[in-house]
Amino acid sequence: MMSLGPVETMSTEGEYDARIVAHPDGAEAWLAKAKLRLSRGDHQAGVEFAIAAASRAGAVPEAGRLLVEAAARAGDAHLLGLAAKCHLQLFPDDRETSVFQRLVPPRLLVPTPQDAEELDAFNQILASIRDRRPRRYGQLLQCLLALRPRSILEIGVFDGRNAADMIRAGGRTPAQTGALRYVGFDLFEEMTPEVHEKEFSKYPLSRAEIGHALSAFNQNHLLIQGYTQDTLKAFRQSPDAGPIDFVFIDGGHSEETIQSDWDNVALLMSEKTVVIFDDCYLNKVKELDGLGCNSLVERLARDPRYVVEMLPVHDSFDKDFGMLTIALVKVRLRPHGGALRRLLRINPWGRPATGRS
Ligand SMILES: C[S@@+](CC[C@H](N)C(=O)[O-])C[C@H]1O[C@@H](n2cnc3c(N)ncnc32)[C@H](O)[C@@H]1O
Repeated sequence: MMSLGPVETMSTEGEYDARIVAHPDGAEAWLAKAKLRLSRGDHQAGVEFAIAAASRAGAVPEAGRLLVEAAARAGDAHLLGLAAKCHLQLFPDDRETSVFQRLVPPRLLVPTPQDAEELDAFNQILASIRDRRPRRYGQLLQCLLALRPRSILEIGVFDGRNAADMIRAGGRTPAQTGALRYVGFDLFEEMTPEVHEKEFSKYPLSRAEIGHALSAFNQNHLLIQGYTQDTLKAFRQSPDAGPIDFVFIDGGHSEETIQSDWDNVALLMSEKTVVIFDDCYLNKVKELDGLGCNSLVERLARDPRYVVEMLPVHDSFDKDFGMLTIALVKVRLRPHGGALRRLLRINPWGRPATGRS
């Protein structure tokens, strides 16, 4: 068994989250979360939070070592090679440490002609996790870097900036970024003032503009135009729909549309799939009635089929009606007999984890 250093109990994870809310640029609480999840066998989240710590740690060697350890524990040789080479660029003497001697096979440290380009891309992804604004979006990227999905589905493409960041983080290296499958749904030119108002939405760029921008670095994207109430269902029923490993639900913001999007996405999920909802409103005011994913994710948090967790970094915006604070919520299928079964249900609403949606 590998040593992870001191590990605190699950009940302290809320305290780490509170520290992240107070100091989103600090690495320590992310490090503690990573160690905790790894100790519980939740390797995917352990790697994700180790990435979060490494992106914020600057020249603190402990974070780089933990990322190496997490990647080894998760059995992710690709990430292990990237993280190890990246760490040794800053701390070459660490090659002799027991972490490297025990966990990093020498073949992963053999220099290749792609090293400069790949390590530069890896460092850029870490920087965008730290620097991305709105801040909560960095959490999408750290999740994607950890997951290494075969495909990304985004509901609500808007200006395509997030699509580009997500494809780069999910692909990890320029070669894989070029081939990663991305499917984006939006109304594009069909957006109207009525829908804009009803869906508490934004005006998107045209489908052609976004397609052109993505083509510069990705050759495997599909942009589907129309109401997701129709288009997502048709896509889900088509023979080339799956597998979908990562989904970001950020289209129409009416409860009705979010429910319809989820109903379709839920049928595309596998044990690997991570679904992230935007628009969990932390300060409910009457202007937000009928909007956001709150009531849906509350129901999912009580459903034993799912593991639901609110991600700690959120954003606040000054609106006409007061402050709007938005969080992301992550949903995974609860693995049968897997390590996640042993995890405590993380229920941010503090209600009993019983019942079905
Ligand atoms: C908040 S923006 C998406 C932001 C984007 N995900 C990002 O991270 O930058 C919401 C998008 O959803 C689209 N949209 C709203 N309602 C929709 C619906 N019913 N069907 C399809 N797209 C919709 C809008 O056109 C808009 O581009």
